[in-house]
Amino acid sequence: MKGVILAGGLGKRLYPLTKITNKHLLPVYDKPMIFYPLQTLINAGIDDILIVTGGNHAGDFLRLLGNGRDFGLKHINYTYQEGEGGIADALSLAEHFSEHDKMVVILGDNVIEGNIIKAVKDFREQKEGAKILLKEVPDPERFGVPEIVDGKIVRIEEKPKNPKSNFAVIGIYMYDGKVFDIIQTLTPSARGELEITDVSNAYIKEGRMTYDVIEGWWSDAGTFDSLLRASELVAKGGANKKNL
Ligand code: DAU
Repeated sequence: MKGVILAGGLGKRLYPLTKITNKHLLPVYDKPMIFYPLQTLINAGIDDILIVTGGNHAGDFLRLLGNGRDFGLKHINYTYQEGEGGIADALSLAEHFSEHDKMVVILGDNVIEGNIIKAVKDFREQKEGAKILLKEVPDPERFGVPEIVDGKIVRIEEKPKNPKSNFAVIGIYMYDGKVFDIIQTLTPSARGELEITDVSNAYIKEGRMTYDVIEGWWSDAGTFDSLLRASELVAKGGANKKNL
């Protein structure tokens, strides 16, 4: 299975830090942010990886990661997102790379304590459709939030004022090759972006979505508070543990 890291966007919520570098190259404790999602994929046995980046500092990814030798990789694929059209817009750039196979997509600002080994194994065995991962959080209104009825996700709302559960949809998504047809049908949201939540909702509507609740802590790192939190969590106990 292939992996896609979405590291585009302009990181405006971290301005002025992101005036002089890409958000995903900023440090989370002792490593650049992008190292964490990359390691998450590698730990799950995924070594055919595309990084989608953008903005003014995209060349620095090559200088930092090259072909991934430090991570035991032979090769890394890169592509460039113009502008900030949203997570689903960034994902659409992976169509050629994916060859319409199943894939794991991870947001470049997501850090986890543990691993996704079991979820990826289950998705390999899932015939088609999609799988998302949830985590209970104190502030669901910051995220995509699932409404769960009788153990089934019936809908995800993006940053709802009145969340229907205490779960966040974390930034790790598993999709089959039909995802690119779904992205074609999307229209920009109120914030002017093609939303990954709309992609997942299309799978839910078709009854082709499964989910798991992830073990261990999870953090995004796209705001000053969450960047600090992610750094503190990593400093305290490390991230990307293969056994949790
Ligand atoms: O972290 C999980 C959350 O990520 C989910 O719960 C939400 O449903 C999902 O929409 C997303 O929310 P954010 O508002 O936090 O996403 P953000 O705009 O910060 O983008 C997250 C990453 O996605 C970013 O670090 C790089 C990538 N991205 C984002 C945009 C807008 C791109 O590659 N291109 C883009 O145009």
